[in-house]
Amino acid sequence: MSTEENKIIEVDPAVLANELAEDYESSGYDTSTASLNSSINQYAYENGRRYHTYFGQDKNMLPTDETEQNRLDVHHEIFLLLLGRKLHLAPIGKNPQRILDVGTGTGIWAIDMADTYPSAEIIGVDLSPIQPHWVPPNCRFEVDDAEREWTFEPNSFDFIHIRNLAQGVQSWDTVLAQAWRCLKPGGWIELGEIETSPHSDDNSLPEDDGLRKFLILLQEGLEKMGRPGCVTVDFLRDNLKSTGFIDIESSTTKQTLAPWAKDPALKQVGALSLMVSEEGYHSYGMAVFTRVLGMTGEEADKTCSAVRTSVLNKNRHSYIPYHVVYGRKPETDA
Ligand SMILES: C[S@@+](CC[C@H](N)C(=O)[O-])C[C@H]1O[C@@H](n2cnc3c(N)ncnc32)[C@H](O)[C@@H]1O
Repeated sequence: MSTEENKIIEVDPAVLANELAEDYESSGYDTSTASLNSSINQYAYENGRRYHTYFGQDKNMLPTDETEQNRLDVHHEIFLLLLGRKLHLAPIGKNPQRILDVGTGTGIWAIDMADTYPSAEIIGVDLSPIQPHWVPPNCRFEVDDAEREWTFEPNSFDFIHIRNLAQGVQSWDTVLAQAWRCLKPGGWIELGEIETSPHSDDNSLPEDDGLRKFLILLQEGLEKMGRPGCVTVDFLRDNLKSTGFIDIESSTTKQTLAPWAKDPALKQVGALSLMVSEEGYHSYGMAVFTRVLGMTGEEADKTCSAVRTSVLNKNRHSYIPYHVVYGRKPETDA
């Protein structure tokens, strides 16, 4: 044996970092030759989580690992429960031809839409290629940044859907101007966003509550990055209006954070929220708190863990508002 063969091959710590992934494919490595020469799969590992960095370290502050993908799929079920199992509220008719989902995540909404509207083409776009390969034939995914000029033809979509994207967007003007350009005249846009501010109808959240502190710090961090810290229904409505959309309607529901509500659907929302709470608050908090607010990993972890203590407390009845706002591009340029 040569000395070269005797040398122990060191394992890349990045491979070990994501212990939850079972194999290379599920941990995000591209195992097909098709895109071996693509640099789209670029990752950084921080605090035991995997972040996608192709568009820059701070573009998306959420991790993209399997834990996060599972959380996003559970959140999809929460959104369905909040909207009475509807995939959208905009009245897009029975026969839309082309639909775009911006910031599609795992693509779960796009896939459900493809099954619901089999004659439509559904395209999901995201910074990260974390969507499954086996999808309905009328659904496909692309990797891109919503804040750059979109590659789609003008006037080419009947419906553009944007859900839970706010933490990744600095310029809503840019995103909505692109959506306006790519929507057909008469086409619909729908925005669905969680408002990152603590609520309880019975004042059961004390001043020093962990959820309250977490959300205030999250807002501070996002604002420091030039992103809207707290997306309210007025923020969404005003942005649609100033872009030129008409017939704007909105609906606000409450995402309960633990199963404290009497209403069976909201109880289920709360149970699902609690189920993913351990990962969820860390997903949102760790990168913002350490990279932007300069906390140590330990401080950030403590701040995120305190939310779970809060939501586990049966005497605290917290929720966060979920706003859905939709509008239409006029048939003619007025
Ligand atoms: C919280 S997830 C929501 C995923 C999906 N919309 C849903 O509701 O299930 C946010 C997603 O937006 C993507 N994202 C963030 N900023 C983006 C941007 N500027 N352009 C495209 N995608 C972006 C992230 O990569 C992530 O997958």
